Amino acid sequence: MDSLNHVAIIMDGNGRWAKSRGHIRVWGHVRGSKIVSDIVEEAESLGVKHLTLFTFSTENWSRPVHEIKILFRLLKKFLQKEKKRILKNRIKFKVIGDISQLPLPTKELIWEMEELTRDMKGLNLTFCFNYGGRTALIDRVNLLVEKGIPITEGNLTESFEVGDVDLLIRTGGDQRISNFLLWQMAYSELFFTPTMWPEFSAKEFREIYLKVAKRERRFGMADANDDWMTSAKLARINKETLGEMREV
Ligand code: FPP
Repeated sequence: MDSLNHVAIIMDGNGRWAKSRGHIRVWGHVRGSKIVSDIVEEAESLGVKHLTLFTFSTENWSRPVHEIKILFRLLKKFLQKEKKRILKNRIKFKVIGDISQLPLPTKELIWEMEELTRDMKGLNLTFCFNYGGRTALIDRVNLLVEKGIPITEGNLTESFEVGDVDLLIRTGGDQRISNFLLWQMAYSELFFTPTMWPEFSAKEFREIYLKVAKRERRFGMADANDDWMTSAKLARINKETLGEMREV
């Protein structure tokens, strides 16, 4: 079984979930934020090394101001509530994206948590906040150019705060990657679940993880065990296939 070291999640479906129950959209975010700790805990017990969560995208600015404010508040509340556990479990916490427009106390809390957990060796928990994959890519290219470092696949990969994603999960039923970790998802396994984020659970997370861990990941290569002679012996070779093969 392959280990999926880096799991990234697009926590979608909060608004629809709340509306379908006759509530205001933002209630979905409130309930959705409560699931986050369960997923963090499950990631730790599955032995995941990096968990990256999309908490606010650059496109989310087009939402009503009160919804944006609630998302900001939920981020702060999460950190206040989870601080002790993050430290106890030696989680390394980081926020990537542009946090400049967050209220100062929230920024201070983020900086404090990042500083306190800088050398932690447990789960790497990263929140992508006010984050966009294209902007992140452009920023990194500019940074390398500025430093005179050649633009190579390796240099770019190294320049990002988070590495290649092994598994992307998106809840809420849509099958899109929505400008998330574009560079890092080149070879990710993708899993889309119809479950709305507030109803996602540690159990479903574990099931998805174990199911995907069984997939064979070839990274663009052929099956290592599939050589020509073996396949020819095993395959049903008939006149038609032989004829077509000779044309190549
Ligand atoms: C999409 O739901 C989700 C987000 C915009 C952000 C995810 C935020 C949370 C889970 C709460 C914040 C939690 C923390 C810990 C910071 P949507 O309302 O866009 O879904 P929809 O497709 O139903 O409209």
